[in-house]
Amino acid sequence: MIALLDRQVVFFGGKGGVGKTTCSAAFALAASRGGKRVLLVSTDPAHSTSDIFERHIGGAERELLPNLWAIEIDADRESARYVKDVKRDIERIFSPAVVRQAHRQIDMAAASPGLAEVALLDRMIDLIVEREQVYDLVVFDTAPTGHTLQLLRMPEAMTTWIHALVKHRRALLEIDQGSGGEPAVPASADPILAALERRHDRLAQLRVRVTDRGCTSFVLVTIPERLAIEETARAAELLGDTNVNIGGLVVNRILPDGLEGEFYASRKAQERSYLEEIARRFPRLRRFDVRQLARDVYGIGSLTLVSDQLMNP
Ligand SMILES: Nc1ncnc2c1ncn2[C@@H]1O[C@H](COP(=O)(O)OP(=O)(O)OP(=O)(O)O)[C@@H](O)[C@H]1O
Ligand SMILES: [Mg+2]
Repeated sequence: MIALLDRQVVFFGGKGGVGKTTCSAAFALAASRGGKRVLLVSTDPAHSTSDIFERHIGGAERELLPNLWAIEIDADRESARYVKDVKRDIERIFSPAVVRQAHRQIDMAAASPGLAEVALLDRMIDLIVEREQVYDLVVFDTAPTGHTLQLLRMPEAMTTWIHALVKHRRALLEIDQGSGGEPAVPASADPILAALERRHDRLAQLRVRVTDRGCTSFVLVTIPERLAIEETARAAELLGDTNVNIGGLVVNRILPDGLEGEFYASRKAQERSYLEEIARRFPRLRRFDVRQLARDVYGIGSLTLVSDQLMNP
């Protein structure tokens, strides 16, 4: 995975429980030891990153080790913050009567299921686009695959949407100007247009970065089992459609060699057949095998064991 060390953004994704948090933490640790300034971002509501590093992390960037910072972002908290920001923008621009009406509409919109995703995306944009002067590398430990891929696809949909709004707003301003007399607000000074265009710029920047192969990679994490392999196939296809580079496939929890007994022999035989299947179905992905350790992974010591396997396959 040394090849991924010069990316600026690396996502880890995969089915629930396969080892995303473990692998993203191990990769971030290795990168920070190599001298990169690294931010590890968890969007997983369970916040296992705190458990792995045996330190409370929370919603503000926090230095865990030299060169390694971490933050845990929470969809509920981000949604609340997003709604507050939008309301504040409106208060700055409109009269109290309009504000009351607008707040009611925003509260209604806030209850819709898409808001958490938009709010998370907004925060990811902050971390990717605006923190690039501070960090060399931002590593995302993502929530189970489908959700994250939706997020990565969202800029495209939102760009189209914002584009339409900007056009509509421009047309309105032109009508104003066409009806004789001086325009109330020249297009260049219209606060709504400016806000929409700022938003559009941010999304465009995110999209450029996420689809730039030299900048962003997505690492798929799986285990040699049926359901995880199927989910990996779906994720690989979606990422291909979205034009996001897949930096590699981690096959985690491979059983150690040389044990004995019927149970072990049966597991090992199953594993062999799934490993063959993985090789057959993902021939173009760089593969990183990680062995199942004797204990679960937490603390720097055991994390280093995983990180060594990822970095020196
Ligand atoms: N190679 C390994 N050897 C031993 N235990 C492992 C290994 N990889 C992961 N584990 C353990 O498996 C459990 C799940 O790992 P982890 O939390 O990294 O998965 P996850 O994909 O992030 O899960 P979730 O989808 O719930 O966020 C943890 O208890 C972790 O310590
Ligand atoms: Mg996790």
